[in-house]
Amino acid sequence: MCGIVGYAGTGTAVAGGPDASERPLEVALAGLKRLEYRGYDSAGVALVGPGRPEAAFAKKSGKLDNLVAEIAAHPLPAATAAIGHTRWATHGGPTDTNAHPHLADGDRLAVIHNGIIENYSELRDSLTTDGVTFLSDTDTEVAAQLLAREYRAAGDLATAMAATARQLTGTFTLLAVHADDPQTVVGARHDSPLVVGLGAGENFLGSDVAAFVEHTKEALELGQDQIVTITPDAVTVTDFDGAPAEGKRFTVDWDAAAAEKGGFDSFMDKEIHDQPHAVADTLLGRTDSSGRIILDDLRIDESVLRSVNKIIVIACGTAAYAGHVAKYAIEHWCRIPVEVELAHEFRYRDPIVDERTLVVAISQSGETMDTLMAVRHAREQGAKVLAIVNTNGSTIPRESDAVLYTHAGPEIAVASTKAFLAQITAAYILGLYLAQLRGNKFPDEVAQLFDELRDMSRKVQTVIERGEYVRATARSMQAADKVLFLGRHVGYPVAMEGALKLKELAYIHAEGFAAGELKHGPIALIDEGQPVFVVVPSPRGRDQLHSKVVSNIQEIRARGARTLVIAEDGDDAVRQYADEIFWIPQAPSLLQPLLAVVPLQIFAMALAGAKGLDVDQPRNLAKSVTVE
Ligand code: G6P
Repeated sequence: MCGIVGYAGTGTAVAGGPDASERPLEVALAGLKRLEYRGYDSAGVALVGPGRPEAAFAKKSGKLDNLVAEIAAHPLPAATAAIGHTRWATHGGPTDTNAHPHLADGDRLAVIHNGIIENYSELRDSLTTDGVTFLSDTDTEVAAQLLAREYRAAGDLATAMAATARQLTGTFTLLAVHADDPQTVVGARHDSPLVVGLGAGENFLGSDVAAFVEHTKEALELGQDQIVTITPDAVTVTDFDGAPAEGKRFTVDWDAAAAEKGGFDSFMDKEIHDQPHAVADTLLGRTDSSGRIILDDLRIDESVLRSVNKIIVIACGTAAYAGHVAKYAIEHWCRIPVEVELAHEFRYRDPIVDERTLVVAISQSGETMDTLMAVRHAREQGAKVLAIVNTNGSTIPRESDAVLYTHAGPEIAVASTKAFLAQITAAYILGLYLAQLRGNKFPDEVAQLFDELRDMSRKVQTVIERGEYVRATARSMQAADKVLFLGRHVGYPVAMEGALKLKELAYIHAEGFAAGELKHGPIALIDEGQPVFVVVPSPRGRDQLHSKVVSNIQEIRARGARTLVIAEDGDDAVRQYADEIFWIPQAPSLLQPLLAVVPLQIFAMALAGAKGLDVDQPRNLAKSVTVE
C-alpha cells in the first residue's frame, strides 16, 4: 500500500551510465516500477543536487508510465539523492495535486509517505494558524509542513524528522530530502514498512527489497519507531529520541531476474508458471540427513509446541484460504483444534487466547496491517506466534516468535497465485512437523507424506501444461456475469479462492460455497446456463466425499447449470455430469488444493485477459495493504 524508494549517491563515483548524476532518477523510477504493485493511483519523484536551491520534482496521477512520460516531456536536473512514491490513495483522491512528493519550506523540502496520519486534522489546524497554506487534501502534506517547521527549529533533517515523528499518530513511513543537504535521505518508520539497501558509494531505501534488489542484495532490516539517515557512504539509525539504534543485516535471496516477466505477457502468467518452483523451493532444506523435519528460524521451545492445545490461523485474502487448507491438514495429522480467522475480525472480537495457543499468521508480504495488528494482539495475550511469510525483512516475521519462510520468490502481480501454493506447502510442513514433534505420526509416516508432498511440484507442472484448454474455455465465457464455485473439505477453500481470483481479475461476481451448503440456499441462484465450477475430491479418498460431490453436480445440472468440473485423472464417474472437465493428476486428498486451484487461477487470468483487463494491476486493489 504505497511504494516508497530512496537513494543517496555521490553523483560521480558510481558509474550508473553515461552520466552518473542521472542515477538517482533512474534508481527511483526502476524501484517504483518494481513497487508499483503496492499502489498505482499516482506516482512522483523528488531530486536534490549540489548547488540547486530547491528540490526538483514531478508527479502525475495514474500509473507510473504517466510520470515517465511527464519527465520525458519536462526533464529533471542532475541530482545526488532522490525519493520516489507510488500511491494507493487514502486521504484525497488520486489527482496530480494529491500525488506525492509534497513540498514545503519554499520547495526546498520534499516528503513522501506510506500509511495514515490519524491526527492530521489537529496538526493541520495548528499549522494553518502558523500561516501555512495547504495545496492538497492529504495527510502527507501536513507531515511535510510539520517537518519544515521542525527543520527551521533544528537545522538538521534527522533531528527534525525525529521531532516530527514524535508528534504523529497513526502509521507512517516518511522519507524526506532537503536542498540544503543534497546527499542525504532521511526516513522515519512507525508501523509501515521500510528496509535499507547497502551499496558501495550509494545506499537505498525501499518499502521492500524489490525496490533495490537489482543494485544490491545486502540489506538492513529496521525496527519500529526508528529514524534512518542514508548518505552515499553511511547509514545511521536512531530511535525517535535520537538515541543510537541498530538494524539487522541480511542478504536478499531473490535475484533481480526473479522480479522480471521473463518473456511472459504478464507477471501473473509468469507467477502461475513459477508455481512448481514455489512448491519445490518451499520444501527445500526442511529435512535433516535422517529425514526428520527441521524448521528454520524456529525460536519457540519444543516443549511449548508440545503443550499447544489450540491453533488459530490469522490471515487476509488469499492467505486466509491457505489457512483453511491448513486447518484440514493440521487437525487431521496432529489432532489439535484449528480455527481460521480473518485477521481484522480476530483482532477486534476479544478472542480467547492464552499461553497454550499457537497463532499462525500467514502473509505473502509480511506487511498486511490487519495481520500485523492481530499478531501483536495475540502476543499481548501470551500466545506464541509463528509466521508463514514470503518476504524477507518484512515486519510480521520480525514481530513473531518464529518464522517459516515460503520460498516463492517475489510475487509482483497484485492477485496472489504462487504465494498461495507456497503458503499451503508451508502449512503442510508445519502440520507434519507438529505431528512428528507430538508423536501423532510415526517417523516413517511423516517421511512418506513428505515424499508425497515433494512429488506435488511435478504434478503442478502437469496441470500448468494442460492450461490451454482452460484458457480456451475462459475465452468463450466473456459474457458471464456471475460464476459459482463449489467444493467440499479442502475443495471448499479452493472454491473460495477460485471465486476470489475471478472477482479480483475479471470483475465478475463470483462466490465459493461448501457444496453441502448448496441445498440450504445457494441452489436458488442456479438457472439455465449458470456456470458453476465444482472441485471434485479424489474418488480414492475416504468418507464418501466423492460421491456426495457427484450428487451435488447432478442436482445443479438438473436445474440447468453449466458444470465446469475439476477432477482427478481416471475419475470416470464424474465425466458424464461435466459440461467441461479439467483434469488434474491423482494426489492424496489433503494435498489436492495445490493442483485443483491452478485451473481456476488460469481461468480467471485468461477471462480477464480476453476482456482486455490489466491482470497484474486490477482496479482498486493493492498488493500489500498497510492500512487497517
Ligand atoms: C491484499 C492482496 C491479496 C492478498 C491479501 C493478503 O488484499 O490484494 O492478494 O491475499 O492482501 O496479503 P498478504 O501479503 O498478507 O498475504
